[in-house]
Amino acid sequence: MSSDACTSIRRIAITTGGGDAPGLNAVICAVTRAALQRGWTCIGIRDGYDGLLRPDRYAVGEGCLPLTAARVEGIAALGGTVLGSTSKGNPFAYPTVQTDGTTALVDRSQDLLEALARDGIDALVAVGGDGSLAIAHQLAQRGLPVVGVPKTIDNDLDGTVMTFGFDTAVAFASECIDRLHTTAASHHRVLVVEVMGRYAGWIALHAGLAGGAHAILLPEIPFDLATVAELIARRETQGLSYSIVVVAEGAHPKDGTRALCGPAEAGHAERLGGMGEQVSLALAQRTGKDSRCVVLGHLLRGGSPTAFDRVAALRFGAAAVRALEAGQSGVMVALDGRDVRPVSLADVAGRMKAVPLDGDTLATARDLGLCLGD
Ligand code: F6P
Repeated sequence: MSSDACTSIRRIAITTGGGDAPGLNAVICAVTRAALQRGWTCIGIRDGYDGLLRPDRYAVGEGCLPLTAARVEGIAALGGTVLGSTSKGNPFAYPTVQTDGTTALVDRSQDLLEALARDGIDALVAVGGDGSLAIAHQLAQRGLPVVGVPKTIDNDLDGTVMTFGFDTAVAFASECIDRLHTTAASHHRVLVVEVMGRYAGWIALHAGLAGGAHAILLPEIPFDLATVAELIARRETQGLSYSIVVVAEGAHPKDGTRALCGPAEAGHAERLGGMGEQVSLALAQRTGKDSRCVVLGHLLRGGSPTAFDRVAALRFGAAAVRALEAGQSGVMVALDGRDVRPVSLADVAGRMKAVPLDGDTLATARDLGLCLGD
């Protein structure tokens, strides 16, 4: 983490990378407005770093978006990112088609640094998840002033109490679970709800608690479906003829593996999906009950951010500009108790924040008698 006072910034760029999350536009709005307040100019790079690395794809001058007050007016309430995003554009391992038609991962970081210098960019705000923050760390090590902003609906980034987008995803998932109670009860069914959460079950746990689920299966706790089937049978004896089971996409049985829905493409993480259906089929077999699976998937990434996520994202964006103004680089802005402050990217990049097995939220679920599959 470097922090020499830096007064030389005149022009900054912002990039949004990885899977989108509600609140990205609020970060863009805050970074732009805070930069303009300081007399700096701000540009948005299109589609991760592709706007600078793919002149073949963007017309001249179209790879970057000048961000003005008028351009960011009202965008904080919008889902998605007005800059576009990509999960495949790591400049240090950029998927590049070779002359023989195969795709190789090529280090194009020097091209990126040169393009930023050519455009007169003094510093970068990199908004993204684990992959994007690792790239931000590498770029800072190459001498570019960079501040990272953590983003993921999964809430699984280390070093910050929470990421924006998580609250919106949980609110929507909870509403869906609320709606499933009545149809599950009407038909005396098991309803399995699969939610995103590759390596951490934050969304499943919080949405399951808020939505009154009866069982929650997380990546952190390998499950045994016998315990879930027992819970369903116990509920039957209590006259409760339906059950709701929330499954994180990355959950897996004690004696099995995670469900993949396709091979990993070059430069892209493996795709998960299908565990909800597997659980639903197995529970139907074990309990003799009708069971259905609903996959919420990318619905959780869409929609307008909640007020909580908007404020969080605005705070993260403004804090990123304050960090740059203070001459900091190689840091990520993070919620730490009451305040958003910079933490060293070296300490957090690439580190995942799992649901703590000894935390009070899991203890709450157990105290309420929920089944966690163990
Ligand atoms: O944003 C993180 C995440 O939502 C994961 O939970 C999920 O596995 C992944 O994104 C899916 O992303 P995509 O379909 O864009 O590759």
